[in-house]
Amino acid sequence: MLEAAHAARPEGKKVFVKTYGCQMNVYDSQRMSDALAADGYAPTDRIEEADLVLLNTCHIREKAAEKVYSELGRIRQLKEERGRDGRETVVGVAGCVAQAEGREILRRAPAVDLVIGPQTYHRLPAVVRRALGGEKIVETDYAIEDKFEHLPAPQKKAVRSRGVTAFLTVQEGCDKFCTFCVVPYTRGAEVSRPVAQIVAEAERLAAAGVREVTLLGQNVNAWHGEGADGREWGLGELLFRLAEIPGLGRLRYTTSHPRDMDDALIAAHRDLDKLMPYLHLPVQAGSDRILKAMNRKHTGDDYRRLIDRIRKARPDIAMSGDFIVGFPGETDADFEETMRLVRDVTYAQAFSFKYSPRPGTPGADLDDQVPEGVKDERLQALQALLTEQQRAFAAALVGRTMDVLLEKPGRQAGQRVGRSPWLQPVIVDEKAGEIGDIVSVRIKEAGTNSLFSEPVS
Ligand code: 5AD
Ligand code: SF4
Repeated sequence: MLEAAHAARPEGKKVFVKTYGCQMNVYDSQRMSDALAADGYAPTDRIEEADLVLLNTCHIREKAAEKVYSELGRIRQLKEERGRDGRETVVGVAGCVAQAEGREILRRAPAVDLVIGPQTYHRLPAVVRRALGGEKIVETDYAIEDKFEHLPAPQKKAVRSRGVTAFLTVQEGCDKFCTFCVVPYTRGAEVSRPVAQIVAEAERLAAAGVREVTLLGQNVNAWHGEGADGREWGLGELLFRLAEIPGLGRLRYTTSHPRDMDDALIAAHRDLDKLMPYLHLPVQAGSDRILKAMNRKHTGDDYRRLIDRIRKARPDIAMSGDFIVGFPGETDADFEETMRLVRDVTYAQAFSFKYSPRPGTPGADLDDQVPEGVKDERLQALQALLTEQQRAFAAALVGRTMDVLLEKPGRQAGQRVGRSPWLQPVIVDEKAGEIGDIVSVRIKEAGTNSLFSEPVS
């Protein structure tokens, strides 16, 4: 079978990309695929037929990083099997583990041929060619040239195959240095892409049929740049500009830092219908002592006041957040402050994690690490509260009419799946419209993970 598939495409090289971690990695994987497509590599979702296997990795928590090494063990076997059949497989590690561990990866996983960090993806095709010549390559410098200028634009066909929603990275890196976080080390200093580049990319996406664009950045609301009017713009002004692009019906952005929610961005939430009423604004913890130890640069009450201002501007906004339990020194009373903050704010959606000490970050060197069992208990309690809030938020939508962007066919015949303005999957009758349409439906039931709708009569 494999032989036949291979023989049918004697020239066709294939790349299999596996993506771990955040949406920025999803975007990067697409851009790497685009760069490789220009070099004759077609994407495949079957690893056995891939001439090039790329793992785009995440270093944020220990578990995420360790997953990569177990996957590389499996890939080593596959590479050996293919080698016995006379077929070469190039194995590459990209992303944040590549940036953080570099040459160490070649030592721990000898099947790896190339290691490439996020700042040098535009060099990937050349690096793969060198690897095919038998070289082992580690490419983790911070490239001086702007990688986005050198990465080829995706072909219309590739954009279409990815659906009616798309990610667009506008900013990379972070200067905040929260004491638990590896991002400032793996992704480097905060860099914003210029307005013209972002607008051109968004226009290309819209021309290929994309209806919703999510702007990405590790600290996306720190984005800044010179506007078309010669003034310094922030993310709010950029959103107003992108809202003018014909065809784009919805805009989102993620992930934000509370310190960078400026007035123009809050005004964008007030004035722009296309900006969806959903905000991922991590707070991480509720105790001021822990927030200080985390170097978050805000208190619990600063965050509460900010949410009040945002809700005044856009009353139907749904809040989402990230939380860490068990940061070094966190007492039961500190954890209670996190629970109190969650009750005060109420979240429609949230992500919560046990603190994972990361090598090279200040938090990892602190003495009073919290025992694993205590972290487990706190995580359970926090997640129970967040799940309850998420359910209540969904239940309150029953009976309401809302716009849904139809994204893909449903699992059952006759259905499509769309997204509510608040990012929940909504099951819609296929007669309501085509994929890519934004249709109005009434919610009749809230399930665990999705909403069920009926036509508006
Ligand atoms: N341990 C646990 N969670 C972490 N995060 C970042 N670093 C760590 C860590 N060392 C979480 C934060 C961040 C999200 C992307 O991952 O909540 O917002
Ligand atoms: Fe990490 Fe976000 Fe803090 Fe930056 S703001 S250091 S990306 S948690």
